[in-house]
Amino acid sequence: MPSVTSFISLSRYQWRNQHAVSLTILSAVCLCILYTLLHIQPDTPRWIKTQRLPDRRSFLGMVKNETLGFQKILCINLPSRTDKRDAIMLGSSLTQFHIDWVEGVSGDAMDPKAYPPRLGDLGRPRMLPGEIGSWRAHMNAIQKVVSEQLTSALIIEDDIDWDVTLKNQLQEFALGSRAVQRDRGASGIPYGGDWDLLWLGHCGITCHSGDPFYMMHDQTAVPRAHLPHYWQGPAVHKTVDNTNETRVICRISNSVCSYAYALTYHAAQKLLAVLSVSPFHQAMPPGEPIIFDVLLGRLCKIGYLKCISSYPSLIGAWRPAGSRSRHSDIQELQDPAEPDTSLEEATSLGVKYSTMLNIPTLIDNGSLVRSSVADVPNPKLNLSDVQPMEGGLYKLEHGGVLEIEG
Ligand SMILES: *[C@@H]1O[C@H](CO)[C@@H](O)[C@H](O)[C@H]1NC(C)=O
Ligand SMILES: *[C@@H]1O[C@H](CO)[C@@H](O)[C@H](O)[C@H]1NC(C)=O
Ligand SMILES: *[C@@H]1O[C@H](CO)[C@@H](O)[C@H](O)[C@H]1NC(C)=O
Ligand SMILES: *[C@@H]1O[C@H](CO)[C@@H](O)[C@H](O)[C@H]1NC(C)=O
Repeated sequence: MPSVTSFISLSRYQWRNQHAVSLTILSAVCLCILYTLLHIQPDTPRWIKTQRLPDRRSFLGMVKNETLGFQKILCINLPSRTDKRDAIMLGSSLTQFHIDWVEGVSGDAMDPKAYPPRLGDLGRPRMLPGEIGSWRAHMNAIQKVVSEQLTSALIIEDDIDWDVTLKNQLQEFALGSRAVQRDRGASGIPYGGDWDLLWLGHCGITCHSGDPFYMMHDQTAVPRAHLPHYWQGPAVHKTVDNTNETRVICRISNSVCSYAYALTYHAAQKLLAVLSVSPFHQAMPPGEPIIFDVLLGRLCKIGYLKCISSYPSLIGAWRPAGSRSRHSDIQELQDPAEPDTSLEEATSLGVKYSTMLNIPTLIDNGSLVRSSVADVPNPKLNLSDVQPMEGGLYKLEHGGVLEIEG
């Protein structure tokens, strides 16, 4: 009831020099109104709320459920990497969502007959065994979406990190995703009804030029100077991309790195078709790589899939302390800035209030989390103060950014 509160304080200011009695009476009246409102709610459910926000509350609520508004969350994990499973299990339990596991695949153990189609084409770049295994592991996750007939699923890799405020970020993402779809909420689907793939964890995107993009203030967005190296971009335009504390949500024409993405059931069917059963030329042009994430980006680019993403990425990467050999079973994405030695401390890349680095606080039910990025205006965040924020739709015009009606 912020309006009631501010009314009280305003009244107090105006009445300061007058009768204290009047103030007492006014306060009592306000309190009575407040009391009545609170107490009639069980009997007259929702009329106030439904008038103000007809559908919003229900879809925002769904985004905060145990599976983040998707039907399932599938995490790809090599059975031998129990260490990574420990981390994801603990992190997800502390930030309150539930994960199902999909077994990762070692490329060396695969029958070459089951390798990605068209891999052997003349002039096609070769794939490392780890990349072939990763392709198959993602295929298995996609196959599971189809076999279990999941209406939607979030597929994640097991070396990711995410913000402690992920649920709040996803509520904001849902608002943005619906705005760029012009979905005013008739479909009860939390992220809107007109998408195939939500690319939540990436290392670079390009927004669809020409389409409006959604932009909002976001104190959890990683300052631009501290983002890991992005291999795609700019997302919109250098000036938009470089603004700290903002997040852009848009339809994308390309992306790379498949840390986390959500699929609809139909999109999973389409992916099984193009990636395995009936591949087509445009998806795998001669001479081009067919590594899983590159292929996924190409499918967004050619319009085979409708893809929506956020800049910066919502999901980042996590490296436990110790030898570098522990990090990836595919290949190391070399960040030129990183020295090639073992890490003394666990490191988080691409998220601000890292779940993995705040685990001691979260286990103690602490509400004050720390930024894993140095040199920020808000190094500590009180979780009790976090609320979803809304942004608006914008477009680029004559070199400037123009707000348009949502
Ligand atoms: C969360 O919400 C989604 C979307 O409505 C739904 O499909 C899913 O079953 C819900 N998850 C749980 C655990 O209730
Ligand atoms: C944290 O909260 C849980 C559940 O509310 C409770 O069981 C646990 O004892 C609390 N831990 C601490 C350290 O306060
Ligand atoms: C953006 O944030 C970084 C890190 O906090 C800071 O060093 C930089 O000055 C900020 N840039 C602007 C334009 O405010
Ligand atoms: C966080 O904010 C809540 C409510 O605003 C407050 O009660 C609590 O004391 C704050 N916690 C810390 C550690 O500052």
